[in-house]
Amino acid sequence: RGNGQLLKCFRRILTPSQRRVGTSAEACQPLTVHQDAGKSFLTLQEESLERAERSVLISCPSKTSEKKILKFLSKYGTINNCFFYDSYGSYAVVEFASRDGISSLHGAASLPNIQHEASVPFKSRLLTLKSNGVDLSDGPTSLKLQPQTSLSVNELIQRLAKEESIDQQLHSLTSTLELTNENIALRFLVCSLLKDVAGAFFPECTIRLFGSSVNGFGKLGCDLDLFLDLDTVSGRSIKRPSGLAVEYQTKRVASERTVTQSVLSVVGEGLEQFAPGCVGVQKILNARCPLVRFSHQPSGFQCDLTANNRVAMKSSELLWLLSRLDERVRCLVFMVRCWARAHGLTSSIPGAWITNFSLSTLVVFFLQTRSPPILPTLEQLRELASPADKCVIEGNDCTMVSDLSKIQLKPNTEPMETLLQEFFEFYSTFAFNRMSINIRKGMHQHKPEAAPLHIQNPFEAGHNVSKNVNTTQLERLVALCRESAWLLAHGGGTIPPGTVGAAGAKAVPWGIAALLMPSVAEAAGVKGRKKKKREPASERIKNLLQSLNKPARK
Ligand code: GTP
Ligand code: MG
Repeated sequence: RGNGQLLKCFRRILTPSQRRVGTSAEACQPLTVHQDAGKSFLTLQEESLERAERSVLISCPSKTSEKKILKFLSKYGTINNCFFYDSYGSYAVVEFASRDGISSLHGAASLPNIQHEASVPFKSRLLTLKSNGVDLSDGPTSLKLQPQTSLSVNELIQRLAKEESIDQQLHSLTSTLELTNENIALRFLVCSLLKDVAGAFFPECTIRLFGSSVNGFGKLGCDLDLFLDLDTVSGRSIKRPSGLAVEYQTKRVASERTVTQSVLSVVGEGLEQFAPGCVGVQKILNARCPLVRFSHQPSGFQCDLTANNRVAMKSSELLWLLSRLDERVRCLVFMVRCWARAHGLTSSIPGAWITNFSLSTLVVFFLQTRSPPILPTLEQLRELASPADKCVIEGNDCTMVSDLSKIQLKPNTEPMETLLQEFFEFYSTFAFNRMSINIRKGMHQHKPEAAPLHIQNPFEAGHNVSKNVNTTQLERLVALCRESAWLLAHGGGTIPPGTVGAAGAKAVPWGIAALLMPSVAEAAGVKGRKKKKREPASERIKNLLQSLNKPARK
């Protein structure tokens, strides 16, 4: 590449972990399960946030040379890393070696001078590079853009059909869909840009990422779950001192929920009125977990900002920890989530369908029941915890070990192909009508309440994470599990002869590619299957609307 020399000098100053993001060849490596081994969930998050706080997001003219941009920006400070992507225009994520780079860039930036309109003078780290007549192009070697979206299901099916074993297919599916290092860096950068807005009201607050952005199961295009943490405001959890003391005067409101609602309302207002790039702000403050939903246009992320949501943070840590114990966990969760989405079992619209979180829990539970178990129970993780890991949130014991090296499991070498088939078998015969799934104990238990699907919330005993799922959706899940188990057992794992390696030929979907095809059973010509009951019109319309709402590239 034309800017090789400049990049070489940047690369020399990178530490190995900083090198994970960048324009170098290493940037294209997917996150592997054992990368950053030894670091805890919180340490990794803090490191990523710190890098994000030294970064800026710059909209660039489309015909621009990477080399010229880097040369221009490096006048303001040493650049550790930089990558480009496209989202209705080209953007650069530029990480400076220190925050001084940002101060110096801010010092040189001007506010826009717009005619017939006015601009809110809020200075953020979202900037525009104006060429002002300077030629920034560099012949044919213009920007190398890092993709931020994944393949469509059809493209994915074609890719998978060319693999030679189901294990290879599962690895290929995971590496195709998983978040790239660049996408993760962009997620943390957006999080830190939003913190600047919330920080205008609460300078000591933190905004953290949770959910699939950080739990190891994120797919390119997944939403951005954010948690506004006010517990970092100093003096909140200090014990009342004895003797003469000073206390802040504060507004008194009825409950913590009211505090959450008013904080989110004001921050939501700030995002809508002042934050460039934040559009379509909706305040959903009466939900069980109040949130502000909006789109961050320059990154293309759909954001859900919550507050006082520490338990969800802990669920993300739990999934992350489990995802790193055995690489089969990620492959199976990615497959099951992708399979569910391909069949309309999940949707980006809230409704009576199962969520990705519940699906992950189903996989975790299944892996806990193997012999020997592939995953530990939450109780075992709690027993291994050190005193520093102790964590109680709203009366719920959320303690679990943070040091992965303490978790020792008996070797289990079952191939993923077997595990996937047995996963589908397991849930096609599971007694959902009587039993509840409990990953805390790794056991099924009698349902404490009448809900079609009962999955105990790992950290809030008595809460059902899938209480939204109705009988129709559960029946669809079970029927599809049955169908998929049947397909894998009857030659789904066999490569149709002559379909692999034929240059230019369209490979025939087989193995997991066949499981992602619409109407799996019809396509495979399953005989003797119970004829599908005609769904009521409303259900069919709902499904149709669902399929129309599926984004082409998500
Ligand atoms: P995507 O569908 O890819 O966004 O998956 P996700 O895991 O991010 O799920 P979602 O955005 O729906 O929720 C974000 C996070 O909130 C999850 O990862 C969980 O940590 C948590 N969460 C969601 N639903 C529940 C629930 O019912 N109970 C608990 N305890 N946590 C939940
Ligand atoms: Mg999410």
